[in-house]
Amino acid sequence: MDGQTKFTYNAKIDAGRKPSGPVCLRQTAGRRQRNQGVQMAQTVTLIPGEGIGPEVAHAARRIIDASGAQIRWEEVSARAEMERRGQGYLAAEAITSVERNGYALKGPMATPIAEGPPSINVGLRKALDLYANLRPVKNLPGVKSRFEGVDLVIVRENTEDLYSGIEHEVVPGVVESLKIITEKASTRIARFAFEYARKTARKRVAAVHKANIMKQSDGLFLGCTRAVAREFGEIEYREVIVDNACMQLVLNPGQFDVLVMPNLYGDVVSDLCAGLVGGLGLVPSGNIGDKAALFEAVHGTAPDIAGKGIANPTALALSGVMMLRQMGETAAAARVQAAVEAVYREGRWVTRDLGGKATTAEFTEAVIGAMK
Ligand code: NAI
Repeated sequence: MDGQTKFTYNAKIDAGRKPSGPVCLRQTAGRRQRNQGVQMAQTVTLIPGEGIGPEVAHAARRIIDASGAQIRWEEVSARAEMERRGQGYLAAEAITSVERNGYALKGPMATPIAEGPPSINVGLRKALDLYANLRPVKNLPGVKSRFEGVDLVIVRENTEDLYSGIEHEVVPGVVESLKIITEKASTRIARFAFEYARKTARKRVAAVHKANIMKQSDGLFLGCTRAVAREFGEIEYREVIVDNACMQLVLNPGQFDVLVMPNLYGDVVSDLCAGLVGGLGLVPSGNIGDKAALFEAVHGTAPDIAGKGIANPTALALSGVMMLRQMGETAAAARVQAAVEAVYREGRWVTRDLGGKATTAEFTEAVIGAMK
């Protein structure tokens, strides 16, 4: 990987919005090679994941391949067979593959509850310094949901906060979990959110916090965000306490545009927002860093439906759309987006999470069939 140039965020990632500023394309390793006018395939790391992961990853891969995108997949597992001390089961091979290729599409990975090694998902984001988790939440045409006209973007800080994973028992019966908030990470995520808003012609940024209680940690996050906000005079800035933000979101999501927040609130608020537009089967995300980007659905491994062939692959396919846009494969991205929307508009091949009867395979075939 070329350490000199920067992996620059591509504003076209946000579907259907005209960037008002320059659109930057990434310049680092894994870039599409052009040889005397012939477009060469670009290698992308594919991490199938666990639970419904392999099912939705297989479906998303088929859909992306059918779009005409020039991609060579390098499939790796993110779970190592042996636990490495302090790092759990995160496979070094997965990290080096994403570093080398610059892009990854990933299915969800399971994390044991209240025991066991740290999360592989969080480990990957930290190891690759994928500091911005970008989660666009938008209605899909034809999908019945509680709200219409939802079009907001969650920008979640991805490397610290209570996800630092630093916990210890002080004395029996008393446990401490450290919430790490730094000036560097807070300023970086705030800048990402405002630059994103500017490039995608979004008008408003709301910082979500709990600085009335966590005066120092969330206070630092807010202080950094305020300082960045002052540089973006054309963008309306407001602050909302996280509990009120949740209520406001379920009352009137249309009042929000870009929301920036620390890691834990971002995780919780993302699932809440997924519920506004039809559920977890639909919402994509991108984990963006300076040198690489890893795209995955917001949902987890869904153990209740794993192996049944009924998972909805839309969220991962749309994560693939975000990835294609970032790679500059805009025509392929538009093809996938349009095909997914056509299938939902028709309403015949809808999976069970959205009230239909279609299997993962039937939905996938329908999307591929709808591709123009
Ligand atoms: P989950 O997102 O896996 O499931 C929540 C509910 O949504 C379940 O009823 C599930 O059936 C449904 N659902 C999720 N995705 C769906 C899809 N594509 N199609 C249809 N229905 C879908 O959340 P849960 O149960 O809290 O977590 C399960 C495991 O996933 C845990 O081990 C957790 O740590 C892990 N996880 C991993 C993530 C990642 O890899 N980025 C993100 C979130 C959770």
